[in-house]
Amino acid sequence: MSKNNKMWLSSPHMGGDELSYVNEAFDTNWIAPLGPNVNMFEKEISSFIGNGINVVALNSGTSAIHLGLKMLGVEKNDIVLCQSFTFSASANPIHYLGAIPVFIDSEKETWNIDPELAEQAIVEYIEKGQKPKAIIAVCLYGMPYNSEKLNSISEKYDIPILEDSAEALGSSYKGNMCGSFGDIGVLSFNGNKIITTSGGGALLTKSKSVSDKVLYMATQAKDEEVHYQHSEIGYNYRMSNVLAGIGIGQMNVIEDRVESRRRNYDFYKKSLSHLKDITFLDEPKDYYSNRWLTCILTNSFKKREEIREALLIENIESRPLWKPMHLQPVFSESDSYTNGVSDDLFDKGLCLPSGSNLSKTDLQRVINCIIKICK
Ligand SMILES: Cc1ncc(COP(=O)(O)O)c(C=O)c1O
Repeated sequence: MSKNNKMWLSSPHMGGDELSYVNEAFDTNWIAPLGPNVNMFEKEISSFIGNGINVVALNSGTSAIHLGLKMLGVEKNDIVLCQSFTFSASANPIHYLGAIPVFIDSEKETWNIDPELAEQAIVEYIEKGQKPKAIIAVCLYGMPYNSEKLNSISEKYDIPILEDSAEALGSSYKGNMCGSFGDIGVLSFNGNKIITTSGGGALLTKSKSVSDKVLYMATQAKDEEVHYQHSEIGYNYRMSNVLAGIGIGQMNVIEDRVESRRRNYDFYKKSLSHLKDITFLDEPKDYYSNRWLTCILTNSFKKREEIREALLIENIESRPLWKPMHLQPVFSESDSYTNGVSDDLFDKGLCLPSGSNLSKTDLQRVINCIIKICK
């Protein structure tokens, strides 16, 4: 192992103001899963996303997906179309509800759900008498999904979209922020995300009645009675007021964080694209990615592994791109519509260290190592 310090893929990066909001929670004894920090954090996200979005802060992105699917009416034995190329948390909540995932492969332009394959699945499932109940589209690595095409398919067949923008806070399409494209949007503030509350998430919706219902469901579905009365099964999914304090501090620096991650991408691209073995995912016209993680595509699995192992020896963390859900042992019984795109990305792709706290010297260390392997 090299004596160099460990370089992480995406580590938390505090802005400096976080502790003052956390201290305030302590000083005022708001140590609860509600309180002024939670309210303020929600307001800040809402004004950042715009489009009149209502925000409910939750304890994870996964719980936001779970409640989101519930709000879209997903129940036992319903079919839910889900982008295959993603992290398992996009798909697991389908099973929490007893519903059935059908995985859809990606398009080459965005690496996100292929609208044409999605439409093919919709048509075939409707013919079988099993109209899908919802579509989960992901803005993976910060790249918006093809909302123009997919949203028109969603309207045509009257099937709502849950937009998993866990990785895409600060990304946009034609100036509209990720999180606002689907009928329901989801963000994650897990430790590795562009901003973090250590653990946390949010559900986004344009409908005030939906956000009111989510708030009720996330706080144990308590009826409006003086005693504890429940007419529905609830969840304990609300965000802590202490952690929301970290979130407010992080929202003070969100623009800087997006800029830094995009700068990382540009620097990697400028320094590595002369290598014939390495390519990058460009932004299609009108797409703006927060470049949460910079990903490279090599020309073979072997080359990908050579680079990953060389980086590891230098004490640098890198990671293969997400293993698609249709290749996961846990989903081996699930139906899927594939076109080879995500198989190929999984074989040849690698995520490089992308934290907003990395220096140019850090990035250069990664670049030198890759150049050595590829030349
Ligand atoms: C695409 C995607 N969806 C969902 C999640 C789940 O978010 P959380 O970890 O906050 O539950 C994550 C990240 O962890 C993710 O990357």
